[in-house]
Amino acid sequence: MASIAYVNGAYHPLRDASVNIEDRGYQFGDGIYEVLYTYRGAPVDAELHLNRLTRNLQAIELPSPMSTAALLTVIRQVLRLNRISTGLVYIQVTRGVAQRDHPFPAPPPRPSLVITARRKAEPPDDISTWTTTAITLPDERWGSCDIKSINLLPNVLARQAAKRAGAYEAILYDKQDNVTEGAASSVWIVNRDGVLLTRALDRHILPGCTRAALIETLTVPILEASFSLDDLRAAREIFLTSATSFVKPVTRLDGAPVGNGAPGMVATALFEQYIRRIKAL
Ligand code: PDD
Repeated sequence: MASIAYVNGAYHPLRDASVNIEDRGYQFGDGIYEVLYTYRGAPVDAELHLNRLTRNLQAIELPSPMSTAALLTVIRQVLRLNRISTGLVYIQVTRGVAQRDHPFPAPPPRPSLVITARRKAEPPDDISTWTTTAITLPDERWGSCDIKSINLLPNVLARQAAKRAGAYEAILYDKQDNVTEGAASSVWIVNRDGVLLTRALDRHILPGCTRAALIETLTVPILEASFSLDDLRAAREIFLTSATSFVKPVTRLDGAPVGNGAPGMVATALFEQYIRRIKAL
């Protein structure tokens, strides 16, 4: 069965689904996106993701292409047409099609909306099969990383550098040597004193929906504060969170083991808590 994509009001087989070459997403990266996981037909943290989408549209002065309720209907329809119950949904909104010129086109074109879905494995049961590796790199992104912009060139280059080094994620740090986030994930540590830390929300990180969902339901104390590259290197535990990785321990950083090289107690507790939450949807 061919995959089906939603593109600007119609459902097309993926091979025929296309956008105009003058789409401002293609020309300028003038758009935003969302990625969410759906478990057995239930979109996970849907409200958080769709609220962030709305906030991001406002941030780049783009009118919503449709209401949140209508968006959820299209998401369910894309899943249904693709016969996907557990997978990923990708949503992209751009400023639409106009002759190439940097300022916003006037009158504004209709925003372009694309929604696709891809089958994914069920959440893992065992954290020991769900570990990863990372390298550290300077954060070379722009000043508004709180916007989930489709301009992902620095993230792409960072992930490629990680891959070349035989790792998966690139953990980024700012000019003060404080950790910002991963190229496509939020970063958490349990520091050498046993304190659970993740950077406070600011313009230099994406407000992760998985991060927010976890913090809301945490039963252990958390400090939302900056931590340095040295803290990262000395951490007992490092783990990543995102819609696609849930809670994923980093067991090697820049080639060296993190802690004893196995998933830590805090990561394991949060992993179990998050997976339980997904499965209860
Ligand atoms: N990435 N930080 C960045 C830079 C991200 O790209 C992501 C998600 C996150 C975690 O956010 P959330 O918990 O809402 O998924 C943090 C998605 C999965 C992606 O680009 O594929």
